Amino acid sequence: MPSLHWSSKSESIPQGGKLETDAVLYPFEGGESVPQPDSQLILGDNLRVMNALIPEYEGKIDLIYADPPFFTNKGYSARVGRGEDSRQPKEWQLAEGYPDQWKDLDAYLDFLYPRLIQMHKLLSPTGSFYLHLDWHVNSYARMLLDEIFGYDNLRNEIIWTYHGPSPIRRAYNRKHDMILFYSKSKQYTFNVDQVRIPYNPSTLETFKSSKKAGFGKVPDLERGKVPEDWWYFPVVARLHKERTGYPTQKPERIMERIILASSNPGDLVADFFGGAGTTAVAASRLNRRFISSDNQLRALHTSRSRLVLDVQSRMKEKEVASGSEYSVKIQRETAVEKISKLSAKEFGLSTLDDNQERITLPPELLSQVDYWEVDPDWKGEIFQSRIQAARSWRKGELPASISLPETCGEICLRLVLIDGTQIQQIFK
Ligand SMILES: C[S@@+](CC[C@H](N)C(=O)[O-])C[C@H]1O[C@@H](n2cnc3c(N)ncnc32)[C@H](O)[C@@H]1O
Repeated sequence: MPSLHWSSKSESIPQGGKLETDAVLYPFEGGESVPQPDSQLILGDNLRVMNALIPEYEGKIDLIYADPPFFTNKGYSARVGRGEDSRQPKEWQLAEGYPDQWKDLDAYLDFLYPRLIQMHKLLSPTGSFYLHLDWHVNSYARMLLDEIFGYDNLRNEIIWTYHGPSPIRRAYNRKHDMILFYSKSKQYTFNVDQVRIPYNPSTLETFKSSKKAGFGKVPDLERGKVPEDWWYFPVVARLHKERTGYPTQKPERIMERIILASSNPGDLVADFFGGAGTTAVAASRLNRRFISSDNQLRALHTSRSRLVLDVQSRMKEKEVASGSEYSVKIQRETAVEKISKLSAKEFGLSTLDDNQERITLPPELLSQVDYWEVDPDWKGEIFQSRIQAARSWRKGELPASISLPETCGEICLRLVLIDGTQIQQIFK
């Protein structure tokens, strides 16, 4: 088999990595505690994160989706503050998103290759792997995956097409990404009936005039067809209802299709380039457990807010029952600097209502905070997030008050400011 070589290629994987639990998130209002959270958001470099997970999770993850930087040599900004789609830029601002800048292609391949090896190791023997890239390095990644997974285990090269403006005038508009889909072995989950789509109206017309479709089979028009390996979904542009402001966020429908086809309820789905948490949200909605990691605090914060807002909106629609067992362990890789825990005194956070049943943010703080949460029985180590308030993506509004449970111990309040700083305050 031909294989890809570059001068610094090395099969030895840098070792090291240790995880430490920072918080447990219970996104159900008043939900009972779940002793062993089965999903995780992890802050840290994903190579060290995967190293730390291998002793427990080697061969245990059913589906991995990876959407790494694409080798665009750009820095991506996030849009934060009041809903970006308010069309009033003064109400939102640009903040650091994540870098996709490399010395050269060798440096990028040195980054990608060990991570692909570790993801393959974590995958279960019947697991599936999806790698999302575009024209910049897709062909190099294909060679690496053929080497790691085996040429015969490529199941599809999926093309995701979309449309939108482009400054390009001397070539065709580049409006598709590639998703390489491999399985670890010939035995893998593929729930074809979960992802069928309706036939085109013109195809239905053809079927009416001839009982037999292609390959001489009678089509089941009700059941729909197996999707092609090219998918059209609009990008998550400004005004898209899923838009969080985190850069290069992917549509939930891509993740829903991948998760439905390549995993079953209860399975473990991982995304080590988690970004805005698209995989985590889709997985939790489809009753899969998830591990989502990223080395940017903003990505972790966006994912956490998004999980909370998603559960709250589904509770409103009564799709999920209050108190259902669902919790997320928030971990950090120990090499990553601790989240700054500034004294919150200057923010005047001691505003408890008279009857002591609610905590209300002072009005002057409201515009600076993006997300806040309460541990009503703080024991001094792992933050047990029982009640949360997140800024809604579209309207940009943040609930100003949080109701406390009837019995509280020491109350710990955590706030994430719109610039990404996290602060903590304890009320005796
Ligand atoms: C293309 S974005 C992922 C977007 C995501 N699929 C979504 O829908 O929001 C790539 C992500 O990989 C993260 N990333 C890059 N290098 C990383 C590393 N070494 N460890 C962990 N995360 C990393 C970036 O911070 C960024 O959030």
